Amino acid sequence: MPTLLRLDSSASGDASVTRRLTDAFEQAWRARGASYDVVARDLHADPVPHLETSALHWAPGTRPEGSVPAEAAALQQTLVDELLAADVLVVGVPVYNYAAPSTLKAWIDRVHVPGWTTGPTTRPLAGRPAVLATASGIAYDEGSPTEGHEHAVPALEVVLGTALGMWVEVVAARYTLAAEVPELAPMRHRGEQELTDALARLADLGATLT
Ligand SMILES: Cc1cc2nc3c(=O)[nH]c(=O)nc-3n(C[C@H](O)[C@H](O)[C@H](O)COP(=O)(O)O)c2cc1C
Repeated sequence: MPTLLRLDSSASGDASVTRRLTDAFEQAWRARGASYDVVARDLHADPVPHLETSALHWAPGTRPEGSVPAEAAALQQTLVDELLAADVLVVGVPVYNYAAPSTLKAWIDRVHVPGWTTGPTTRPLAGRPAVLATASGIAYDEGSPTEGHEHAVPALEVVLGTALGMWVEVVAARYTLAAEVPELAPMRHRGEQELTDALARLADLGATLT
């Protein structure tokens, strides 16, 4: 049974753009048949706590005995198992203060574990697809004054792609604030077009990725 792991982290509820994007992916995935399963984790509604101890960065068996509280170890095991069991990962990535929401970062801090999910001889997720469905209020175009200011997607690309070895695809909807911020009104059309394109791309990926 092919399994999709869907992560959301927006604090905007029904108004969230990234939730619309991950929804588009999930709907296309489910439309492939009853055997296409979905595990959804809402990191905003059901947040993962910040690390209790830095020992959680190391694989069980390589960290000092007793260094990790049992409850923390159990939660990490659940999150890593969930990720390892997923055939495809789709992550909603709102840009908050030029980075990923802290709720998403807390999940990353639990699953990026040298000796378990990454390492010279350990890469259980190598080649597995990870789709980053991102939305930001403004854009970060090459040559613009904000070029290089967006650190949400680049950090996730390094962790999921470079470290865990996953195949990462980024789908972005920029200028989501153009509809409500008067100074961004000239970018409204571009924002609408990017959202339309992103929804179509995610539907396409949801219908085809394995
Ligand atoms: C706390 C907060 C911080 C934000 N910081 C940024 C930012 O640094 N850069 C940006 O482009 N947009 C920023 N925005 C706008 C969001 O990226 C935008 O609303 C986007 O659509 C968020 O995804 P969502 O609609 O799924 O919540 C911020 C929004 C919030 C709520």
